[in-house]
Amino acid sequence: MTNLLNLESTTKPYNPQEWQRGYESQPNEYAYEIDEIEGEIPRQLKGTLFRNGPGLLDIGGTPIAHPFDGDGMVNAFYFKDGRAYFRNRFVRTEGYVRERQAGEILYRGVFGTQKPGGWLNNAFDLRRKNIANTNVIYWGDKLVALWEAAEPHRLDPYTLETLGIDYLDGILQPGDGFAAHPWIDPSCELDNGAPCLVNFSIEPGLSSKITIYEIAPNGKLLRRYAHSVPGFCFIHDFAITPNYCIFFQNPVAFNPIPYVLGFRGAGECIQFQSDRPTQVILIPRNPPHKEVKVLSVQSGFVFHHANAFEREGKVIIDSVAYASLPQVQPDSNYKEVDFEALDPGQLWRFTLNLSDNTVENKLLESRCCEFPYVNPAKVSKEYRYLFLGAAHNSTGNAPLQGMLKLDLQTGKRQFYSFAPKGYVSEPIFVPKPNANAEDEGWLLTLVYNAAHHRSDLAILDGEDLEKGPLACLHLKHHIPYGLHGSWSDRYFGEQL
Ligand code: CO
Repeated sequence: MTNLLNLESTTKPYNPQEWQRGYESQPNEYAYEIDEIEGEIPRQLKGTLFRNGPGLLDIGGTPIAHPFDGDGMVNAFYFKDGRAYFRNRFVRTEGYVRERQAGEILYRGVFGTQKPGGWLNNAFDLRRKNIANTNVIYWGDKLVALWEAAEPHRLDPYTLETLGIDYLDGILQPGDGFAAHPWIDPSCELDNGAPCLVNFSIEPGLSSKITIYEIAPNGKLLRRYAHSVPGFCFIHDFAITPNYCIFFQNPVAFNPIPYVLGFRGAGECIQFQSDRPTQVILIPRNPPHKEVKVLSVQSGFVFHHANAFEREGKVIIDSVAYASLPQVQPDSNYKEVDFEALDPGQLWRFTLNLSDNTVENKLLESRCCEFPYVNPAKVSKEYRYLFLGAAHNSTGNAPLQGMLKLDLQTGKRQFYSFAPKGYVSEPIFVPKPNANAEDEGWLLTLVYNAAHHRSDLAILDGEDLEKGPLACLHLKHHIPYGLHGSWSDRYFGEQL
């Protein structure tokens, strides 16, 4: 019997019980120089990697219903002279502080977390707990933690101390959302080639209003424009080209009644409608922003776009798409998920022909993948290399355990796997100073290492993933699986 069990467990490149432990809370806050390093940190790597994700998967011992409901914990890796300093801190949102004091769940979460006491105690409580857990960016001399349904929280980049909700110097109003997926246009034509940050917010309803913000490097608003689309919108990410902001309005229906009555989280009331097409909405970035185009495509469900660009009157957009929405199932434990029963995320290329409103789609990568990332200089431009987190096996749905690099020109792939003990997060590509080639740089990813129940930061060579990490930095503890992060060329660490 023992042998049979062992045999079964070896057929998978991962062990579900080990994978689950990456979703244990990390309530502690640390600050230390990382001194357990395999390999060598490249001396030219100077700056700060910021990452965000749920740090608490339980409140006072009661599990939350879904990791997306977890309080945001920001991590920073400060690199200089071949050394690295680590720090993590919870974002002191109002909800985090109050629940920490109370030692119990005080708020409902969007993805099904309920207050104790059953539906009676949850009905008609439509407050939103701003959990600040999805991304963290440094722009306009501010570090901000982002959660799409509410305002950003500003943090001190040196200490990660929470400075409070931030309205971006009046760009936002109380109650506004600000998506967790800003793009930095490396050279905006409307601003004489200066970089600019482009982000959006959604006001969902019977019709949904998409507001777009374009923000200068000094934090000043350059352009704000809005467009309303019919129907409910569940849009997590978008893409930009020099002339357009592009949104995929996934085919979903929203029935708020179980949410209002206290039976379900709002996110559990979203129903994917596979018989309806996705609406692709292109909003012009050029004033007066009026010539909006809408095209239809059978795309499945998209969370993340890799990049977009324009070529000969066409807009090309590469996205990770699922044949159906990986639904949050009420009353089920997300840790017990049967990966094999779900559709994998796969990389598709959508070619939008704006002269006849047709769309061609093509599967670029069938291996289960997520968290696409390109060289920041290639955002909104024709590009060659794409980095993703990917499953160990080439078919089926499974946890992300490897780093995948696609050469979109030749179709060649490189893959490096951390299986069976490693579970990767989003890759972040940092170009080398004075790099010539698009892939000349480092790929940084946080890996949960089940062998030690700790996390490692792996640094890979962007030109050659397959030789394995140049350096593996072992933290003294684990960090729960995170969401998104970003790189700043500024070093905000201690004077090492
Ligand atoms: Co995302």
